[in-house]
Amino acid sequence: MTNPTTLKQIVAQLSQIRVLPILVADDVQKAIRTVAALAENGLTAVEITLRTPNALKVLAEVVKACPDVCVGAGTILTGEQLRAVQDTGAAFGISPGITPLLARLAADSGLPYFPGVGGASDLMLALEHGFNTVKLFPSDLVGSTKMAKALGGPFPDVKFCLTGGVTVESTPQLLQQSNVLCVGGSWMCPAALIEAGDWDAIGKLAAAAAAAGK
Ligand code: 3PG
Repeated sequence: MTNPTTLKQIVAQLSQIRVLPILVADDVQKAIRTVAALAENGLTAVEITLRTPNALKVLAEVVKACPDVCVGAGTILTGEQLRAVQDTGAAFGISPGITPLLARLAADSGLPYFPGVGGASDLMLALEHGFNTVKLFPSDLVGSTKMAKALGGPFPDVKFCLTGGVTVESTPQLLQQSNVLCVGGSWMCPAALIEAGDWDAIGKLAAAAAAAGK
């Protein structure tokens, strides 16, 4: 399959996989092995967070090493990070929240982008900038499917990626809500398994996550 590049194509891929792994990694080789284990087990898109000192390098190297994976950048908090992410070749960007400045820069950047929202005001700001697929974060604390369902009233065309506190057990039920595009989470690539280089265990968690998304 050709790797998606437009927002529409990325949304289409997420609507198939329905589980977006969120990777926190500082070591390039370990990140590549982790992303490969995720992809081999059905999770062919990944968010790599900008939460480690080496994250931009990790992103750029994973993009190069895993051309069949749709690799995005997460935890984009500033315009500077947004610009740096574009240099890595990442396919998309995600933020945990939204600010007027970042929303404008993201809209101008052309990078497929998913802002984070915690409620109606955030969502109105996202829509002002043309973003109608958003991350609901932290999903478990702001109401999860109840919040997504309630926001579906005034905002019927918006789709949500529920992230924060999602588990393999909660995934099937969360995905039943009609305006939930996908869930995101870090549970299938925990730091301890990455550190230990246990790709088999990560692969098993990924397979279970992919199955929960079916
Ligand atoms: C995120 O970056 O969206 C969250 O840290 C992921 O949440 P989780 O670690 O609870 O899955």
